[in-house]
Amino acid sequence: MYVTSLTLNNCAQATQLHRACFYKGWTEKDFQDFLRDPLVFGLKIQKEDTFCGYILWREIDHEAEILTLVIAPPFQRKGLGNHLLKALLTYLKEKKISKLFLEVAEDNKAAQSFYLRNGFTLLGTRPKYYKRPENKFVDALNFVRVIE
Ligand SMILES: CC(C)(COP(=O)(O)OP(=O)(O)OC[C@H]1O[C@@H](n2cnc3c(N)ncnc32)[C@H](O)[C@@H]1OP(=O)(O)O)[C@@H](O)C(=O)NCCC(=O)NCCS
Repeated sequence: MYVTSLTLNNCAQATQLHRACFYKGWTEKDFQDFLRDPLVFGLKIQKEDTFCGYILWREIDHEAEILTLVIAPPFQRKGLGNHLLKALLTYLKEKKISKLFLEVAEDNKAAQSFYLRNGFTLLGTRPKYYKRPENKFVDALNFVRVIE
């Protein structure tokens, strides 16, 4: 497997995966807008020619925030998420970025386990932040990881 930059050429695949993994996934235009933003960057992970997942983040001064992270369902739980996150942490450390934030839905237990396992700690919650079917909402949990 190998990790390279996520580019504007990857927006269609990124959108497809996002929709497969999230309720109300992002549109192709969302990805295009993010990747045109000078503060936003992305990495993708591939196995041979297969696009398996990606991570998108924003950098502001010495801090960064993960905007989204997705591994395609057939490739989940095989260490690809770990590999991609490690690649990001190495890159951020080289850029002297010392804190990495993210937000995850309260009902996404798999992602919470993943982030806790990777050294993130819970900072707080944002009540009723993510929309769910039938006009329901769930809290967002804020996590942070110090990069040393
Ligand atoms: C969360 C996600 C990125 C994890 O990626 P992954 O490649 O499947 O994770 P890894 O195989 O690298 O797992 C590393 C560790 O995280 C934890 N973990 C990952 N998936 C888990 C799950 N479904 N349930 C419980 N723990 C899990 C485990 O501790 C795992 O180690 P182990 O397999 O040795 O027990 C992936 O499940 C995903 O894309 N989910 C859908 C989108 C999403 O929720 N993104 C995150 C929100 S921003």
